[in-house]
Amino acid sequence: MPYLPVGTCYFSRTLIWNSNRIKMDTISILFVCLGNICRSPAAETIFKSIVEKEGVEDKIEADSAGLISYHEGESADSRMRNMAYQHGYLITHKSRPIQKSDFYKFDLIIGMDNENVRKLHQLCPPDAKAEIHLMTEYCTQHTDEVVPDPYYGGTAGFTHVIDLLEDSCIGLFKHIINK
Ligand code: 4NP
Repeated sequence: MPYLPVGTCYFSRTLIWNSNRIKMDTISILFVCLGNICRSPAAETIFKSIVEKEGVEDKIEADSAGLISYHEGESADSRMRNMAYQHGYLITHKSRPIQKSDFYKFDLIIGMDNENVRKLHQLCPPDAKAEIHLMTEYCTQHTDEVVPDPYYGGTAGFTHVIDLLEDSCIGLFKHIINK
């Protein structure tokens, strides 16, 4: 493996950083979708796998939550878990609704689609520290406007969610490291 200075990477499904040289503040990130059983637990899991591979678990914390409490306490949707597993990710998160305290606890809160982001801005207390962003802002390979809700669709929708999340999670990680 050739030497890579911090700030560069191989842009593939495996991101390889010279993580010993990473100097950064700690940051906490909350991924949010509607039900917290498909997109945001997958985003959390994929992002954490990058963080673990790069050995910066002590610097970057990640969690996920939903805008509705309907699925509270449930495991992620089996279709999402199976698709993630086929791509090498084990989703263990249990659904939870977002709380007011999350807007004070997390530095970055990232919605999967425009409706998620609109609702997050509506719920965010004016004195909260969280910055709210859209997940696809961090994509560098895909041009999709949002991470679409796969819940009522077929298998292809879940595959597409994984593709978009791998792209955006790598982009997000690079963005954080380069800050
Ligand atoms: P998610 O997908 O927001 O990606 O978790 C959904 C899961 C459940 C529902 C909608 C979207 N639902 O209406 O129950």
